[in-house]
Amino acid sequence: MKYTVQRANEFVSEYAKSVIDTYRPTYHAVPPCGWINDPNGFCYYNGEYHLFCQFNPYSAEWDSMHWGHWTSKDLIYWTWRGVSLAPDQPYDHFGCFSGHAIVDNGTLYAFYTGVRKDEDGSEYQQQCLARSDDGFTFVKSENNPIVPNTLQPEGSKAADFRDPKVFRHGDGFRMMVASKGPTGGDYLFYDSTDLEHWTFAKKHIEGLGAMLECPDYFTLDGHTVTVASVMEMPPDGLRYPNSQPVVSMLDVETKGPDCISIDYGLDFYAPQSVLTPDGRRVMIGWLRSWGNDFPPRHLGHNWNNMMTIPRELRIENDTLVQYPLRELETLRANERAFEGASFAAPHSRACELRLSVDVHEAKQLCLHIAKSEGEAFRIEYDVERQVLRTDRSISGYPMGKNGAKEEKPYREAILPLKNGKLELRVFLDTSCVEVFSADGTVAMSALFCPKGSADHLSVSSDNGSANFSLTIWDIIAKE
Ligand code: FRU
Repeated sequence: MKYTVQRANEFVSEYAKSVIDTYRPTYHAVPPCGWINDPNGFCYYNGEYHLFCQFNPYSAEWDSMHWGHWTSKDLIYWTWRGVSLAPDQPYDHFGCFSGHAIVDNGTLYAFYTGVRKDEDGSEYQQQCLARSDDGFTFVKSENNPIVPNTLQPEGSKAADFRDPKVFRHGDGFRMMVASKGPTGGDYLFYDSTDLEHWTFAKKHIEGLGAMLECPDYFTLDGHTVTVASVMEMPPDGLRYPNSQPVVSMLDVETKGPDCISIDYGLDFYAPQSVLTPDGRRVMIGWLRSWGNDFPPRHLGHNWNNMMTIPRELRIENDTLVQYPLRELETLRANERAFEGASFAAPHSRACELRLSVDVHEAKQLCLHIAKSEGEAFRIEYDVERQVLRTDRSISGYPMGKNGAKEEKPYREAILPLKNGKLELRVFLDTSCVEVFSADGTVAMSALFCPKGSADHLSVSSDNGSANFSLTIWDIIAKE
C-alpha cells in the first residue's frame, strides 16, 4: 500500500523543516508544508474545534489527497495535528476528497469521498465514512463506500459525485452530495437512521452551473441556507465575479435557487461552517481559487495555500451576511488613528484596518495597502457606480500559472453607500487581504505576493474632498 497516515506524518516532520516562511500568514490556518485546499469536517468535539482540510503532504502541488487536521480552542489559534486520513484503501486509493463531519453519541463521524481510478482511466467517486472516538485516530467503516455509485439517480455521473455534507433530519440524518446530473450541477439528498446505511431521497438542487461542489447546509435565523461552490456559472454582470463563485441560497425548498455570491474577491472557495457552543454559525473558506497560482509554490517555498479568517454568519434583510469573528479583536495591538483628505502611514504586515469615509463630492476613493516601491494592493471605490474593487495587478509577483500575468487581476462588487459613507474593515496577513463592508453584505478575499517590504499605506480621493478616518491595529498572534 502506497500511502498511510504514518508515512505521511513522518514525511511532514522532515519536509516542514525545508519550508521558507517569507509569505506565511500569522493568524490564518496554514499547513506546516505541502498543499491544502478545501476545509473539511469542521466541527466542535470534546471541547475544541476540529478543522480538517484537503492535504497533499508530499509537495506544494495538488496530488494524493489526504485529510490534514488542526484543532483550536477559540477559532483563532490553530494547532496542526497531523494527517487523519490517507488514501490507503482500494476504494479511495486515488484520494480522500472533501466532506463534512458530525458528532453523535460521543463519536466523530467523518464523511468523505473515496476516489478510485481503474486501469482504463475510469474514475469512481463514492461516499465513505471514518469514525473516531478521540478526534485524532480514525477507523474507516467496514461498510465503505456507504453511498456507492449504484445509489446515484439516473444520469448522475460516477466520476462527479462528491463532497458529502451530513446533518440531522427528523429522527435520523440526511446527506447532501454534489453530483453532475443530466442538466448540470445537482445536490442530492440521501437519508439514514444509523449513519452507515443510506437510501436516495430526492434532488435538492438541479442543473446549476456545469457541476456543483462542496455543499454546506444549515438553518439560521429562521431560514434554511444552502451554500454551493459552482463550476462554470453563466456570467451575470457583477453578480458572479468568478467563473467558480460560491453562492448562498435562502429557503431553496420554497423559493428555488436564488443565488447571491458570498465572497466577491479573487480567492475564496469551498467554505464550511460550524455551530459554536454559544449558538453562532461560523464559516471558514479556502482562501484560494482554482485557475490561478500562488507564487510560494513555484518559488520553491514548499507550502501552498491557507484558510480564511472565521466569519460569523447572520441573516439580515433576507440576505446572508458575514462579519469577522469578534474574537479576532483580542489580537489587536498598537492602535493608531488617522484622519484627513489624504495621508500615508506605515503598517505591519499583519494588521487590521477600519476605514470610514465621508464621501462628499469625491468620485473615486483609494486605499492602497502593502505598499513599497512600485507596489501596492489597491482597494478602490467608484462613487458613481457604487462599486468596490480589489486589485492585485501591481502587488508583486503575477498570480497566473507559473508566474504568468493574470488576465483579470482584480474583482468588483456592488456596494451602495450608507448615508454618504463608505465603511470597511480590512484584514492583512503577509500575503492575503480580506475586505468586509461594515454592513456584512460584501466580502472580498485575495492572495498576493509582494516583492518589496509591503508595509505602507496611503489614502486619497480624486478631488481631495472626501474625509477619511482610519484606525490601524497590528495583529499579534501569540498564544
Ligand atoms: C473542490 C474540490 C472538491 C474535491 C476536492 C479535491 O475544491 O474539487 O470537489 O472534493 O476539491 O481535492
